[in-house]
Amino acid sequence: MSTAIVIFGASGDLAARKLIPALYANFRKQRLPEQTRIIGFSTSAFSDEQYRENMLRAVRTQTGDDFDEGVWAGFADMLHYRSGNLESPDDFAALAAELGTGDRAADDIVYYLAIAPHFFTAALGNLGAAGMLDQSAGTGTRRIIIEKPFGRDLASARALNAALLGVASEDQIYRIDHYLGKETVQNILMLRFGNAIFEPLWNRNYIDHVQITVAETVGVEHRARYYDSAGALRDMFQNHLVQLLTLVAMEAPSKVEATALRNEKAKVLEAVQMTAPEHASLNTVRGQYRGYRAEPGVAPDSSTETYAALRLFVDNWRWQGVPFFLRSGKMLPDKTSEIIIQFRRPPTQIFDTQAGVTELFTNRLRITIQPDEGLHLRFITKVPDRGMTTQPVDMDFRYRDTFGGKAIPEAYERLLLDALRGDASLFARSDEIELAWRVIDDIRAGWEGEHAPPLEEYEPGSWGPAGAERLLGRSGRWWLHESADPAPAPPQ
Ligand code: BG6
Repeated sequence: MSTAIVIFGASGDLAARKLIPALYANFRKQRLPEQTRIIGFSTSAFSDEQYRENMLRAVRTQTGDDFDEGVWAGFADMLHYRSGNLESPDDFAALAAELGTGDRAADDIVYYLAIAPHFFTAALGNLGAAGMLDQSAGTGTRRIIIEKPFGRDLASARALNAALLGVASEDQIYRIDHYLGKETVQNILMLRFGNAIFEPLWNRNYIDHVQITVAETVGVEHRARYYDSAGALRDMFQNHLVQLLTLVAMEAPSKVEATALRNEKAKVLEAVQMTAPEHASLNTVRGQYRGYRAEPGVAPDSSTETYAALRLFVDNWRWQGVPFFLRSGKMLPDKTSEIIIQFRRPPTQIFDTQAGVTELFTNRLRITIQPDEGLHLRFITKVPDRGMTTQPVDMDFRYRDTFGGKAIPEAYERLLLDALRGDASLFARSDEIELAWRVIDDIRAGWEGEHAPPLEEYEPGSWGPAGAERLLGRSGRWWLHESADPAPAPPQ
């Protein structure tokens, strides 16, 4: 059997930074199917040799000291390049002929759309017209991997789903969300459903609230053209944060398989309570870092949010009344993604708490997605030789301590392999995408109405606008990043 991977947008940033390095890493681990051909396709005029040179530089940059010349030589032989235009049916026909004829004919083909969204429809139309997704001959599989942004609202996501489903069936479509390929994100399922001790507590009876933070230190960088018309809500929440929410909130699937998993995730999204427009400023916060409007390519009067914080409720038996606080922003003090499950306090507190340590601090599970991937379970302990003084301590598991520094692969490695093998468990289904947009559109509608929260400016390097603290403060809670914890009592 032979396999072809066609990357549309092959001279772009994603191919160089993520896709080719991930394929190289898989080749190195001998995980690519034998007889794989990788064909880069984009408008730039490169020869195979020139493309290999460019990708060599990219892989060297990504792998650093770990680069292996011998492995590269074998990998480079697989790498080819075809120059073409996404809007040209002739160029697709030529590519189809190359993929389907002679001794180079491929049995299984994966097409990766790493292209700007305004080309999606043209590329899909041309793939369809050239019969490149047709599996009726039964000789092999044809799959499409599609990158975000998957629409910019529910209507455009529906149109894109319709365009996809017009040329391929759902089981041929792999909508990528790279957060789902992160080891620690997959570990949420393992933690919840591979252990017996967490699940009995994983509900409204024991959990006070959940916090999901995805913080970045970078600003808009060179992506203003896209970002200024998207904003944090579309760029980070509709996909990454909402996916994290579904994994924390979902019921146990009957098995770890695409349909079962995605059914459970969709049910969570269906249960997310819509925010009434008049409550927009009670449940949502939006911010923009100071200096954003002066960034190259950003409109001088831009009202795009670079930070958002939300309070969401999942209206079902398990979660009714438990707030989920989600926040994400650019130019924050740390690059960190984490989920905090804050358990309820004991029914009564019979011990004196250390000054400044409130009862809320008793039990908490911190799931660190990145960096310093791990799990930290907090509980109260007795300070030795100090009467009955209490102190919170953490029981820690760190991936790097247990599995070594290089154990965690890039998300794209796993996701590309899964698509090659036909496992869609870690990809979003059309209904999930649309349900997620329903939530986001609802919030955006609130932001356009008379009860919209103000667009608050925040200092680069701070934890975001003051409104975000108020979002939790109103109910006596606060954001639980490490620096917000009171210092442990000094030994006496
Ligand atoms: C992307 C967003 O999907 O995720 C970027 O478009 C963001 O704006 C990135 O920087 C964050 O990904 P990670 O894996 O670095 O947390």
